[in-house]
Amino acid sequence: MPVDGKKVWKGRFSEKSAYEVDVFNSSISFDHILYQEDIAGSIAHAKMLGKQGIISNEDTQGIVEGLTTILEEIKSGQLSFDVQAEDIHMFIESTLTNRIGEAGKRLHTGRSRNDQVALDLRLYVKNQMSEIKAQLHQFEEVIIEQAEQHLHTIMPGYTHLQIAQPVTFAHHLLAYGQMIARDIKRLNEVIEHTDVMPLGNGALAGTTYPLDRQFVAEQLGFKAVTANSLDGVSDRDFVMDATYALSMVMMHLSRLSEETILWCTQEFQFVELADAFATGSSIMPQKKNPDVAELVRGKTGRVYGNLQTLLTMMKGIPLAYNKDMQEDKEALFDSVRTVTIALSAMTPMIQTMTVKKERMRQAASKGFINATDCADYLTKKGVPFREAYEVIGSLVKTCVEEGITLEEVSLETYQSLHPSFEIDIYEAIDLDQCVMKRMIEGGPAPEAVKKQIIRLKEQLK
Ligand code: ARG
Repeated sequence: MPVDGKKVWKGRFSEKSAYEVDVFNSSISFDHILYQEDIAGSIAHAKMLGKQGIISNEDTQGIVEGLTTILEEIKSGQLSFDVQAEDIHMFIESTLTNRIGEAGKRLHTGRSRNDQVALDLRLYVKNQMSEIKAQLHQFEEVIIEQAEQHLHTIMPGYTHLQIAQPVTFAHHLLAYGQMIARDIKRLNEVIEHTDVMPLGNGALAGTTYPLDRQFVAEQLGFKAVTANSLDGVSDRDFVMDATYALSMVMMHLSRLSEETILWCTQEFQFVELADAFATGSSIMPQKKNPDVAELVRGKTGRVYGNLQTLLTMMKGIPLAYNKDMQEDKEALFDSVRTVTIALSAMTPMIQTMTVKKERMRQAASKGFINATDCADYLTKKGVPFREAYEVIGSLVKTCVEEGITLEEVSLETYQSLHPSFEIDIYEAIDLDQCVMKRMIEGGPAPEAVKKQIIRLKEQLK
């Protein structure tokens, strides 16, 4: 843990900090993952200091070369993080100074760790949200691929988990396609909110040095610079925007997971997972468990929890920086890690699962799934819908008592219930017809679903 001799701020103190304080205070065990962002930020800052004549060109060159070497060495594993350093920022600065001397000591001119860490985090969020977006695109492609193969695969649609009306598996999967498309859009918005550069805010009140903030922003690929120094160092809205967007991704993945788990049961048997994406039991030889889906569902809770952590952490702190804010990192990093791993396991799981068309169709033939269509038949013949609804309601009751389906009711019985029934009632309640006729925009008919896919693909471009 930190040795006092290494602390840059030791001048103000006459006694060493307690060992327990050093342990408690240190963040390098988790913030070391920001090393690339930290080095990129420092290189941009050093170049700007040189350009503005605040440090010499020679010093700038020494700093840039030194940092570039440190970056390469960390990447290759040649240089490892010193657990005694307070955080990643101090580690990189002290490593640089140990190597290049005087010039290294000039790097932090006009900068504070407060604006430095805000910058690093913004760079991290922008990078990670882009990575996750790419993963979501892949997932979306898998959903579309599966859907294209099941435009005609009829399955029951549910409300209250009770059989309601027939849909197709393509249509059902593409509901998730819509959710994922919204997730991608949400991540784009997060990136947009995050795309503001905080360096130049100093500790809280800016700086007297003639820094060129626009230059730094351009170097690092930011669209704008922050407008208020107090806000610039203490704003973590973008961290919460990101963890909220990630919570939404997990919520969607969790719902699909729950359905996959149901579909894999003996009772449903709608899909079978590939062996590579299922697990066995240590005692029950027959088991094939959907662990991936269960873990995605289970891990959703921690991602929600991280958002709660951040909101609670921020709600009572006065302006500007407070050490509480060091707690933002583990929550954010954990959410990023969890979503990344969840998507990487779930994408191939959905891609490789086998869809059992016959079972789906069989399930759709039960439960009076065509009762609405039966009522619609009468309505189209001029019977008011409420009256038609009542007729079919009592017919279903009789069928349940007699253990028969609507297809098995005789024409005489139909006609005794209402004179408008004719022989074409059987076509109207045919399962395929029930789906085919729902051609309305956004509906499950294969023609409508094809249009849905075209629109989705266009949206993703
Ligand atoms: N490790 C700190 C954090 O993550 C860096 C900022 C420290 N600033 C300070 N004034 N102590 O928040």
